[in-house]
Parts: sequence; structure tokens; C-alpha cells
Amino acid sequence: AAAEKGGFDSFMEKEIHDQPDAVGQTLLGRSDVDGNLILDELRIDETILRSVDKIVVLACGTSAYAGQVAKYAIEHWCRIPTEVELSHEFRYRDPIVNEKTLVVAISQSGETMDTLMAVRYAREQGAKVVAICNTNGSTIPRESDAVLYTHAGPEIAVASTKAFLAQITAAYLLGLYLAQLRGNKYRDEIADVLADLSTIPAKIQAVLDDADKIKQLGADMANAKSVLFLGRHVGFPVAMEGALKLKELAYIHAEGFAAGELKHGPIALIEEGQPVVVVMPSPSARDSLHAKVVSNVQEIRARGAVTIVIAEAGDTTVEAYSEHVFYVPETPTLLAPLLTTVPLQIFALALASAKGYDVDQPRNLAKSVTVE
Ligand code: G6P
Repeated sequence: AAAEKGGFDSFMEKEIHDQPDAVGQTLLGRSDVDGNLILDELRIDETILRSVDKIVVLACGTSAYAGQVAKYAIEHWCRIPTEVELSHEFRYRDPIVNEKTLVVAISQSGETMDTLMAVRYAREQGAKVVAICNTNGSTIPRESDAVLYTHAGPEIAVASTKAFLAQITAAYLLGLYLAQLRGNKYRDEIADVLADLSTIPAKIQAVLDDADKIKQLGADMANAKSVLFLGRHVGFPVAMEGALKLKELAYIHAEGFAAGELKHGPIALIEEGQPVVVVMPSPSARDSLHAKVVSNVQEIRARGAVTIVIAEAGDTTVEAYSEHVFYVPETPTLLAPLLTTVPLQIFALALASAKGYDVDQPRNLAKSVTVE
């Protein structure tokens, strides 16, 4: 077993370190030198794909957060309204799906019963279903119209890490492909985004190489009772995923909020010493998102929060407002989740390890939930 863990203490730690490869392998062979997407595996008639008027992403758990990240990118590139829904909620509420709906079912295992039932239901209504899946030949891809595999390699630890980054990558490729097919105004961006995506594995590696400080912080915070996470835009689902990792691994209360929602409720939770992890948008993000989140950090700090900020390299302005700052390499906003998630995974792993918990097999959880 030690050899299978590649010298790491746990599968989880190994899988976090597998992430440059997970993203790299998922990108491999899916575009040509001119920056065109080639998704031959997407065996759905192009006329059908061109006529899609709504995308519905269905998933559970971490996979659903990957879907939420992807929504920002897909709507931006494709201009197709995109909903993300938990499979079990979708299936039992009489949702509107028809021949013009493209369903994207995201599942690491391909065996999650709730997602499988949602896929069956969507197909009965005439929708086409593309699965994004990490497990060859599993049930959800077999029951879908097409599959885009994530090539993250087998994920053993119950809590998902590398599959998440690979799912975002694959969903982005799908979004770019649809944009290419529909020839819309973001067409020119495709080659640029692909070029940016190709730099992501090395940037993830840089985050991993620089992880000692966040590991130490995780260990130092082993006695935390509750940790809040704030993010905005694509940083919002990243915050929720960071909170989920902490619940799953360390069994402490953790919650992710949209930073803009703070004043509508969550700020009431802030008291002296409350740790808050903030996923800071890049200073180059559109619409002054950075300044808006900086002001959120100031508000919670004034009320006693201990702020832990994940920021873009060079963003030294946040240092004045944060107890701890961790930098990730510069990258376009839509790709930032592929980097900002990584310190949050490492934080949860370190905190749970310091508590002496089994990070590969957390209590009460299963790797894949094959009952409804
Ligand atoms: C379980 C696992 C999670 C996973 C979720 C969805 O709850 O513990 O890590 O995100 O199922 O699994 P799937 O295989 O469908 O992505």
C-alpha cells in the first residue's frame, strides 16, 4: 500500500500531488496546433449541438461544485443559458427539459445513483446527455449519449481532489467546443484559453511546491470549531468546495458563502477569532471584483475575523488586511479555480491530519453512493 501511495502518507495527499497530471492528461490530444478543439468522442450530431438552447449540469457533491464553476465559463463562451442542479433535486421537481436541452452529467465514479436516475429521466424527456466521467465503462457514461472522460487516473481517497480539477478542465473543453461549433463572438478567445489552459499544470505544480506554509497553518488550526469560506464569481463555488473538504476530512463546521451575500446574513456569524478563508479575485478581474472583496475582508476583520486570503501573485495590497496570505500564480479569472482550490485542499488535509483522522476514509462517507 505504501508504494501505491507513491511515498505520500495518504492517497489523498498523493492525489492532490497528481493534479498537474490530472489536468494535463485531460487536455491531452483534444486540440490541434491551430487552437481548434477536437472532441471526436462527443458523438452527438453537430446540428443537434448547434440547436441546443439550454444546458443543464447535473451532479452531486464535489462534482456539482465543478459544474458550478463551469457555468461561469460556459455561459460566457457559448451564450447558452446554463443551470447547475443537484441530481436528486432535479429529478423530483418536474424540471423543464426537452430535445433542445443538453444535459451534462458530471460524475467521478459514473455510479452515483442520484445522477444516474437524473440522466435516465432527462433522456426520457428527449434531452441529449453528455457524461463527464473519470471511470471507463461505468454506468452513467454507458447510459449517456456521449462521454468526455476526465483522465485524472483512479481516485482512491473518498474525498475528491484531482477529479474536481479534471472535471472543470473537461467541462471547459466542452464549453469551448460548443462555442467553436456555434461560431459566436467568443470564437477568437478559444485559442487563447487553450494556450492558457496548457500552462495550468506547471502552475498547479508551483502551488504544490509552495505548500509548506498552508500545511503549517492547517496544523496550527487543528482546534478550530468552525471555518467560513468566502468567494465571488468563480471563487464562490471554490469557497464551497473548500468548506466541503473541511467538513468531510476534519469534521468541523465549515460553510462557503458568496462574498456579496455577506451583508445579507453571514456577517452576523463573525465574532472575535472566527477564521475566514477568502478566495480573492485577481486584481485584473472585470468589474472591480477585487476591490469589492477587499472591502468584505475589511468588514469582517473590523468585527474580529482572522482572515486567511488566497490571492494572486503580486497582489500585495491584501497583505494589509489579512492575517495570512497565500499566493497562487497569475492566471485569467475563469481558470483561477484550477489553482485556488489547491491550497484549500492542502489546508483541509493538514488540519484533519493534525487531528489524527483517517483522511482517506472519513467516517460515514462512501466514495460512491450507489443508493438513492
Ligand atoms: C460521494 C463522494 C464525493 C463525490 C460525490 C459524487 O459523496 O464522497 O467525493 O463528490 O459522491 O460522486 P461522483 O462519483 O458522482 O462524482
